[in-house]
Amino acid sequence: MRAVDEYQKLLKISFLNSYQQNLDLWSKDEGLTEIAQIFATAVEDKFTHGKVLDIGCGNGRHSKLFDSNYHYTGLDLISNNEWGRVEEEREKVDFIQEDFLFSTKDIGYYEGILDNGCFHHQDPSKYTDYLTKVRNSLVDNGLFMLGVYSTGERENKGQFKTLPSGKYKKVFSGGEIEELLNKHNFNIEKSYYIYNEQRSRYYMGILCKVNSDNL
Ligand SMILES: C[S@@+](CC[C@H](N)C(=O)[O-])C[C@H]1O[C@@H](n2cnc3c(N)ncnc32)[C@H](O)[C@@H]1O
Repeated sequence: MRAVDEYQKLLKISFLNSYQQNLDLWSKDEGLTEIAQIFATAVEDKFTHGKVLDIGCGNGRHSKLFDSNYHYTGLDLISNNEWGRVEEEREKVDFIQEDFLFSTKDIGYYEGILDNGCFHHQDPSKYTDYLTKVRNSLVDNGLFMLGVYSTGERENKGQFKTLPSGKYKKVFSGGEIEELLNKHNFNIEKSYYIYNEQRSRYYMGILCKVNSDNL
């Protein structure tokens, strides 16, 4: 494993290269879209209006799933050319170029936080810092949707590997990710296994709630 600060630099360079070379296949990934759609519906069912944060928002494509009653904030390591267009098309929107783990900016509180494909690339030694920051950025009863690589329903052992780019890739089993979220005081409302046929991979979307009772 690399030192944490060295890994954060590598992560940024690796994602920047993917965007510059149009290798950001995730920007069209329908499995991730499905997870974001489930989340948008859950937020709308629970809150008539509010603020949502999309950590690792990429080009900001999930913004269009939230109607105009919600302010959408997209946060990503890499500033994206598409952000300007989204800002022109949508009133309640802003983007922050930051590393979620190390940003010192006060990012405020949100009714909903989405992390769709970002957490599973982080350094495992920072999982607690990451999830604590998510939890502390949610209002009471706020919703968190975590979308991660998944082994699928039948496997109960996850995998961890370092990709050729140097990025970490954690594939979680259902048991592993649920245990991690429970340990960090998230109440799991429902888990969704999503199979993306085109990319032959499973994701899992875990919809969670936090409330002050279990802090
Ligand atoms: C697989 S992409 C998913 C993008 C988007 N969620 C989607 O579904 O299209 C992961 C994104 O997370 C961003 N990212 C990775 N680590 C991050 C961090 N520590 N802080 C902020 N963004 C991060 C990357 O730059 C990349 O845009």
